[in-house]
Amino acid sequence: MEKIIDEQKQGEQLILEGKKENTRKLYIESYGCQMNFSDSEIVASILSEQGYNTTNLLEEADLVLVNTCSIRDKAEQTVRKRLEKYNAVKKINPNMKIGVLGCMAERLKSKFLEEEKMIDLVVGPDAYKDLPNLLEEVDEGRNAVNVILSKDETYGDISPVRLNSNGVTAFVSITRGCDNMCTFCVVPFTRGRERSRDPKSIVDEIAQLWDNGFKEVTLLGQNVDSYLWYGGGLKKDFEKASEIQKATAVDFAQLLDLCATKFPNMRFRFSTSNPQDMTMDVIETMAQHHNICNYIHLPVQSGSNRILQEMNRQHTREEYFELIDNIKKLIPDCGISQDMIAGFPTETDEDHQDTLSLMEYVKYDFGFMFAYSERPGTLAGRKMIDDVSEEVKKRRLNEIIQLQQKHSLYRTQQHVGKIEEVLIEKSSKKSEAHWSGRNSQNTVVVFPKEQYKPGDFVNVKITNCTSATLIGEAVGHSKMHI
Ligand code: SAH
Ligand code: F3S
Repeated sequence: MEKIIDEQKQGEQLILEGKKENTRKLYIESYGCQMNFSDSEIVASILSEQGYNTTNLLEEADLVLVNTCSIRDKAEQTVRKRLEKYNAVKKINPNMKIGVLGCMAERLKSKFLEEEKMIDLVVGPDAYKDLPNLLEEVDEGRNAVNVILSKDETYGDISPVRLNSNGVTAFVSITRGCDNMCTFCVVPFTRGRERSRDPKSIVDEIAQLWDNGFKEVTLLGQNVDSYLWYGGGLKKDFEKASEIQKATAVDFAQLLDLCATKFPNMRFRFSTSNPQDMTMDVIETMAQHHNICNYIHLPVQSGSNRILQEMNRQHTREEYFELIDNIKKLIPDCGISQDMIAGFPTETDEDHQDTLSLMEYVKYDFGFMFAYSERPGTLAGRKMIDDVSEEVKKRRLNEIIQLQQKHSLYRTQQHVGKIEEVLIEKSSKKSEAHWSGRNSQNTVVVFPKEQYKPGDFVNVKITNCTSATLIGEAVGHSKMHI
C-alpha cells in the first residue's frame, strides 16, 4: 500500500442524468489527480452538447474515454490494463470508439495509436474543446489526434457537468499546468505552462455551485499559490503587463479573500501548495476567514537539503520548518499533510534519515508516499541514474509509511474530547447508520445519523479515533455556517 488515505476511488466511472434528446452513450473513466476528475467533468459537458449522455455500462457505450495519469509508471500500467478490457469489449461491439485523454495522451502522442491498435482518438489536456471536430474525423473512419498544449486555455467558459457528485463538495480549477520543473515530475511536460483562470469565471462557477446546494469548494491547481490573474497569459509575461493590469492583478491570497468574502457560508479548501510559493499573505487570509479550512497540503518530497536541490525544489529544509512554524503561529490547529518520494536518485541512508527527522518535526496529519519512479523526458530521467535499488526504495518507503501512521494517530488523538464542526458528505462506507464528513483539518469524521442530512454543518463531539478516522456524536447544528 503506497498511500495511507486514498482520496478518491481510482477509475471510478462517471454518471450523469444528461439531456433527454441525447442518443449516444459515453463511458468515461478517470485516473490520477483531482484535476483529471475535474477535467472529465469539462469533457462530459462538451460532449453533452454533441449528443452524448454518460453511462456506467461499458458494454453499451458508443464512446469510451479514459482520462489517464503518467505520474508514475504504475499509473500508466493501470491504464494499459484497462485498455485491454476495453479492447475485449470492442471485439464484441466493433462500433465502439475508444479515446485516450490526459497525461498519457500528451506524453505518448500518436505513438499511442501504434502501440495500442484499438485506440481511435488521442487528446491532450488542453485540446478538449477540439473533441467535436476530432469525433467527426473518427466517425468518418480516421484516427484523430490533438495534443497541442496551450498558453491560455483554462476552460473558464465551460460549466462542468458535476459527475458522480455527492452534491455537497466540488472542485473548481483555478490554474492549469505547472512551471516549477521539479526534476522528477512529468506534469510540466504533459500539462504545459502554468496559466491562471479569470477570477470572474471562478466566482461565477462557485455561485452556480452555491445555487445548486453545494457547501464546500476546493480550489484546484498543480501549484495554486502561484495563481496570478492580470488579464490572461503566462505568469512570466506579467513583467510586460501594463501598469493598469499590474494594479488590478489578483494573486492567490486575494482570490481566497474574494471567494471567502463573497460566499461566507461556503467552506473553502485549496490544493496543492508548493512550499516555495506559499506566502504569509495566504496564511494570514486563511486565519482571517472562518470559512477557509485550517488545512494545507504541503508536499515536501524529501527532508534532505541535497536531495531537495537535486529535485529542483526551491527551498531548504530550514525554510520549510520556518514556513511550518509560521503556519502554526497564525493557525495553531492547522492540519498539514505531505507527499514524499523515497529513493530519489543518489539518495543515501543519511538523506533518508533527514526525511524521517523532518517528519518528526512536523508530525503531519496524513500523507501520500511514493517510491521514486523514473519518468522519461524529465530532467532526472535524462540526467540521473535511477541508482537506488527497488529493495532499498521499498524499505525506506515502508519506514516513511510506518512513521506517518504513528504521527497520524498522534494527530487524530489530539481531536478526542473536542467539539468540531463537520460538513456531512455521505453515508459512512462501513455503516449505513453513520454519516461521514470532514472537519476543518480534512480528517474524516463518522457519527450516528440521527436527524441530520448531507450538506449539514454539524458540531460533533469526538469520542474515539483510529489513525485515519475520528468517531463521534453530533451535538447540534453548527452556528458558524447556516
Ligand atoms: N503539484 C502537484 C504534484 C503532482 S504529483 C499536485 O497538485 O499534487 C503528486 C505527487 O506525486 C508529488 O507531490 C510527488 O510526491 C509524487 N510524484 C511525482 N512524480 C513522481 C515520480 N516520478 N516518482 C514518484 N513520485 C512522484
Ligand atoms: Fe510536479 Fe513540482 Fe509542478 S511536483 S506538478 S513540477 S510543483
